[in-house]
Amino acid sequence: MHGEYNDFGMPKPPALAENLADGKRMVRPDRGALLVVRIEDDAIIGDIGWHTVSYGPNSESRALNIGLALIPDARGKGYGTETQRLMGELLLDLFDIERVEASTDVENVAEQRSLEKAGFTREGVVRRAQFRAGTYHDLVTYSLVRSDLTSTDADGLDVEADSRKATRPGRT
Ligand SMILES: CC(C)(COP(=O)(O)OP(=O)(O)OC[C@H]1O[C@@H](n2cnc3c(N)ncnc32)[C@H](O)[C@@H]1OP(=O)(O)O)[C@@H](O)C(=O)NCCC(=O)NCCS
Repeated sequence: MHGEYNDFGMPKPPALAENLADGKRMVRPDRGALLVVRIEDDAIIGDIGWHTVSYGPNSESRALNIGLALIPDARGKGYGTETQRLMGELLLDLFDIERVEASTDVENVAEQRSLEKAGFTREGVVRRAQFRAGTYHDLVTYSLVRSDLTSTDADGLDVEADSRKATRPGRT
């Protein structure tokens, strides 16, 4: 789904449904995508993808960056907050990573607010990082790290970190 903040003028990638029909796996540790479905009426209201970013050559320095787009009618109703929180928790649960991150244009106030409500922490501005619509844009980076899950989640529920993950090799 293309919009003001995620249209890079590149060829449209195959729709999720086409990939699924081709038997392609949509959930992989390095990248993937899922549809966002509203439970009340089973409507597809968006998609969310993730890809690997690396902060060093070893696998422990790998993080996943998520990107969400909702259809216009579904925006501003809290679905973005819920989806990004659930996605952060799911990726930390499924994969051996320490952080899930999201970056968005400094002008995309709705996404920044949505990420903050989802429990992501604002980390800073990456200057002139993204080339889009004929010019470079500054991005704000947010993260959800494993230890954040020991605090209160977006719905006010306790979401204790998985003890198995907290004691994996190299960590005590
Ligand atoms: C960005 C996006 C994912 C956010 O999801 P959402 O469901 O619309 O967001 P939420 O309803 O969870 O939260 C939005 C918050 O931002 C606020 N907000 C929205 N537009 C705003 C604006 N222009 N200025 C200030 N605040 C704004 C809302 O009031 C709400 O905060 P509140 O609950 O405190 O009132 C969704 O709007 C979207 O798909 N946009 C188009 C694609 C996009 O920009 N994706 C991100 C690319 S990095």
